[in-house]
Amino acid sequence: MFKSRKVITLILASGKGSRFGENIPKQFFKIKRKTILEYSIEIFNNHPLVDEIIIVSIPEFIQKTIRISKKFPKVSKVIPGGATRSISSRNGIAAIENKNSYILIHDSVRPIVPQQLISILIENVEETGAVIPCIKSTDTLIKEENQIVKQFLDRNSILRVQTPQCFKYEIISNAYNLTSNDYIDYPDDSILVMEKLNIPIKVIPGSIHNIKLTTKEDIPIISTLLKQYHFT
Ligand code: CTP
Ligand code: MG
Repeated sequence: MFKSRKVITLILASGKGSRFGENIPKQFFKIKRKTILEYSIEIFNNHPLVDEIIIVSIPEFIQKTIRISKKFPKVSKVIPGGATRSISSRNGIAAIENKNSYILIHDSVRPIVPQQLISILIENVEETGAVIPCIKSTDTLIKEENQIVKQFLDRNSILRVQTPQCFKYEIISNAYNLTSNDYIDYPDDSILVMEKLNIPIKVIPGSIHNIKLTTKEDIPIISTLLKQYHFT
């Protein structure tokens, strides 16, 4: 595929993993002798359209992250994150030197991203400048109040949003520049683009296998999928 810009991936690995509840942040949890973070880096390092990877890590884990990154030639920098995911993202964006690039922003704790999904994100980013992968719910969706159903929701128009999300550099950096306060806290980056720039954000199909490791209950399914995707 022809691409007019370099592709830089930010891997966000500066969360504490409080819902996971281990004494090590979940991105450093090992399955078959490899950390979740390594599986995630490997996906982007192996993708032919990705040129560079920047990892945003917990300040106290920078040395450990540098050690892990050694075997991935596309990793150019490991930088410290902040108190929220948004602050970590903003730090990552500030570390990008190539201002004429496409940026993929990814949760380090999603270690199963099909290569094809990354290609489709990059192929679509030129059009709107912002593309996100989403999946439909296979369960019925409701709104609840005090354990009583208030409303049944339309499963076809309410989607679950995943990462990686892909942006033109100027779109994502403008969105963050328009957030003047030091403390920002959004669950993902596309929300900020919508709120600050109000531009159309393109939706493409995500993958049901692209699970975010959140609690210990996710481990059995992630272990099984890793076998298939990473040949562990
Ligand atoms: N993240 C980050 N910096 C933060 C918070 C989160 O880089 N200050 C990253 C996490 O490392 C993770 C991704 O954002 O890869 C998604 O966040 P989440 O699943 O919420 O991870 P944690 O914040 O670590 O977990 P928890 O909310 O349970 O504490
Ligand atoms: Mg969190």
